[in-house]
Amino acid sequence: MSSAQADRVPEILVFDSGVGGLSIAACIHQQLPAARLTHLADNAGFPYGGQPEEVVVDRTVGLVQAQLRQRPFDVVVVACNTASTVALPALRSAVSVPVVGVVPAIKPAAALSENRRIGLLATPATVRRPYLEQLVRDFAPDCELERVGHPELVTWIEDWARGRPLPEPALSVALQPFRDAGVDTLVLGCTHYPLIQDELRRLLPDVRHWVDSGDAIARRTGSLLEEAGFAPRDLVRDQSSGHRCLFSAPATADIDPFLARLGYRREVIQA
Ligand code: DGL
Repeated sequence: MSSAQADRVPEILVFDSGVGGLSIAACIHQQLPAARLTHLADNAGFPYGGQPEEVVVDRTVGLVQAQLRQRPFDVVVVACNTASTVALPALRSAVSVPVVGVVPAIKPAAALSENRRIGLLATPATVRRPYLEQLVRDFAPDCELERVGHPELVTWIEDWARGRPLPEPALSVALQPFRDAGVDTLVLGCTHYPLIQDELRRLLPDVRHWVDSGDAIARRTGSLLEEAGFAPRDLVRDQSSGHRCLFSAPATADIDPFLARLGYRREVIQA
């Protein structure tokens, strides 16, 4: 281990198309309170679910590279299922710091489900990616998977984070396939969704197990920081302050109360 790291605060870049990556960042903060978090929301490219794959790859690689030129990040977390399922290989070959990605948590869901009926709530893009088929073949071959790729839910959650109410009747209708299929386990396959988990639980009271990737991503981030030379005790020692939420296009001040509740201040990146 390099002793030089003991004097530094670990710096983590968390990337998403919007504010959904803050659900992953919250798990990282809980497990690694000493780390300083920079969350970058590509609101100029949001939503990624509606973008061609090559646009998502180019934006992810370009924006992360630009941040790495500005600050010595120790780990990059692509806290977006939609981007991770296509952009990880290109990003990993373009940058020299470790990159953690997030993919739908099919494996832990299969371990938890008792009735072998699992639901996946994700963006339309994530639901149709070959990566998902592979996850199901590898980890849940004996499960029925009910997929809902919702085109608007990420936008509703972005609006909710800015103080507008969720359209509850429409949300309830969107979740009906899970009730019809009798799923006992639900995978939240988009990082925005854990932000409204209380609401989702209320609308789907029969789901027993709720699965997202936040804690697993935080554990993986911690091991990469240890491999980079940070001592485990230094990762939990102090509460870091000064978390920043960067936006790729100007974001209005109505997001500030939400960011403040999570301990972030808003900044717009320079192009
Ligand atoms: N939080 C992103 C995800 O996990 C949202 C994707 C989008 O912008 O469509 O997939």
